[in-house]
Amino acid sequence: MSEDVFLRDLWYLGARSATLKSGAIRREMLLGEPVLIGRTAAGGAFAVRDICPHRGVPLSSGKIMPDGTVECPYHGWRFRTDGVCSHIPSLVPGQDMDPAKIRVRSYPVHERDGLIWVYMPAPGRENAPPRSEAPEVPLKGAKPRWVESQTFHCGIDHAVIGLMDPAHAPFVHGRWWWRVPIREKAKNYAPLQNGFMITRHKPSKQAYKILGGDVTTEITFELPSTRFENISGTIAGKRLAVIGLTVCTPRDAETTEVTQVFFWPAWLGFIKPFFMALGPTFLGDDRRMVELQRQGLKFNPALMLIQDADMPAIWYHRLKKAWSESVAAGVPFVNPVQERTLRWRS
Ligand code: FES
Ligand SMILES: [Fe+2]
Repeated sequence: MSEDVFLRDLWYLGARSATLKSGAIRREMLLGEPVLIGRTAAGGAFAVRDICPHRGVPLSSGKIMPDGTVECPYHGWRFRTDGVCSHIPSLVPGQDMDPAKIRVRSYPVHERDGLIWVYMPAPGRENAPPRSEAPEVPLKGAKPRWVESQTFHCGIDHAVIGLMDPAHAPFVHGRWWWRVPIREKAKNYAPLQNGFMITRHKPSKQAYKILGGDVTTEITFELPSTRFENISGTIAGKRLAVIGLTVCTPRDAETTEVTQVFFWPAWLGFIKPFFMALGPTFLGDDRRMVELQRQGLKFNPALMLIQDADMPAIWYHRLKKAWSESVAAGVPFVNPVQERTLRWRS
């Protein structure tokens, strides 16, 4: 196997709650590993390695039993949601073999805000508790109101950098009904626990005006790829928040699923058509650019990171490096980002 290109000891978006019914199991590729994601009849989501330890058949092609175990379709071995084998049908009484000594790897799962987060530990730390909490949407009783998910044919780095890149918008998303004239921007960036943020500011795009005249936004980014946009505005005299989440799930080294989810209070349902109209187009714009980029990257060219417009990308690389080193050395992570104002034209 090639060198691991993924950040470990972090939470990744494994699935959306709404796509996983009670009693369902399915295979999801996460960081190049086959993972069975399932939900018991009792409702709990779980994740185990999708390879039967007996002869390698995907457990996701078996079925979930009434007692919540997963039964392999080949010889009927059953595994609990914590990965422990609970039953081997071929054993006869007196055969000295304890199924509980066999286990398939299980992954910590945290389901919240309609999202199923899966923790991907570093090698050797499979049994250690997660280093951090799963991401939480900063909105009480958050429910996904609008979702768009697209597969990008690129590694996670180019997907992430494309999504945090401040200079491409006028060229990639520059439609007449969205465009604002290119002008100089100055935004204040500050470090966060595992990333950085653009502090609260007035957005320049007209489209934000749908949330009133005093609309402001704050954008956070944390490893491995969790970007929250926290938009605050006033409608009919009522303060409200709309939260946009963009998160990248690396399926393998060259395939990344990019998911955008918007959360807003139930009474704000009338803004949904706006997202229906714009959302797929926007993510599609970014995806198309990645397809074009692929035509160049296959020749393995040297690339450039220039000045303030590429500073978020530079920070991303520094954060990744610092994270990998802290995981490898087993020491606390120290965030290398310093507060500063970035200036660019877009
Ligand atoms: S391969 Fe799964 S039980 Fe034999
Ligand atoms: Fe974009």
